[in-house]
Amino acid sequence: MHLNPPVSRTLDPAWLEAMQSRISSRRYNGEAIDGALLDRLDQTCQRLSDTEAPARAVLVRQAPPEVFTGLVGSYGRVEDSPSLVAFVGTDDAAHDIGYVGEAVILEATMLGLDTCWIAASFDPERAGRLAELGEGERVHAITALGHATDKTGISEKLMRASLSARKRLPMDTIAPGHGDWPAWAREAAAALRLAPSGANKQPWRLHMDGDALVITEAPKVYWTAPIDFGIAMLHAELGAEHAGVSGRWTTDRNDEVARFVPHTAS
Ligand SMILES: Cc1cc2nc3c(=O)[nH]c(=O)nc-3n(C[C@H](O)[C@H](O)[C@H](O)COP(=O)(O)O)c2cc1C
Repeated sequence: MHLNPPVSRTLDPAWLEAMQSRISSRRYNGEAIDGALLDRLDQTCQRLSDTEAPARAVLVRQAPPEVFTGLVGSYGRVEDSPSLVAFVGTDDAAHDIGYVGEAVILEATMLGLDTCWIAASFDPERAGRLAELGEGERVHAITALGHATDKTGISEKLMRASLSARKRLPMDTIAPGHGDWPAWAREAAAALRLAPSGANKQPWRLHMDGDALVITEAPKVYWTAPIDFGIAMLHAELGAEHAGVSGRWTTDRNDEVARFVPHTAS
């Protein structure tokens, strides 16, 4: 299926910092999140859920525990998360889902909240009822939202070890030749490298084509890859903007996932 590029939105440069500290948390303390914090996150969800865009983010202040399921593949159940955000869109919205979802997750991180992308271990029908789906929409993924219990607890540690969660592929593997790239593209690649992905599979490779930074698929990809690529695009764009270069994503070529074309280059 051809996936359109994410719809561009105004990004908060502070998300670049949140990217460094964000990790997935799967055990929460069950305590309700402060109402003012939820209001702020809700504003971000609404701002990002442009009506023209195929994906939107819906805050669910009180998350019923049954929405979180397990064990799916290597994933356990996410426990005692008091709230969630549902990432909703049409079937072809996966890139926009990743882009918007990661923006919400980085905003939540900035607000001092813990999160976990969940595309497998949740009940999409229950989540769909909570998100009040429109015509043709489904919930592609959710994030847990709350305050994590001891992040070094044994079950969290086991899960993170089994996923090698903190590990990222070397820059030379994902972006061969990056040493010769312009500074903005190197910053974009460094930010992209930190992106979370389903089962931490990191399905991306990067190269330059003229002035454009191009994302292609790694030789093997996991089923969450379409969402992962949207997440990667948000990270890369934040890195490029930090280096003073804004641009737009295009997805016209079948042999590429997407290319970032700097505005100054056209
Ligand atoms: C699209 C996507 C789907 C994911 N689905 C799940 C899930 O269903 N259950 C889960 O426990 N973790 C899930 N994760 C979390 C990843 O395992 C995690 O991001 C990865 O191991 C990297 O670890 P980090 O987020 O702590 O950096 C998902 C991540 C992404 C990006």
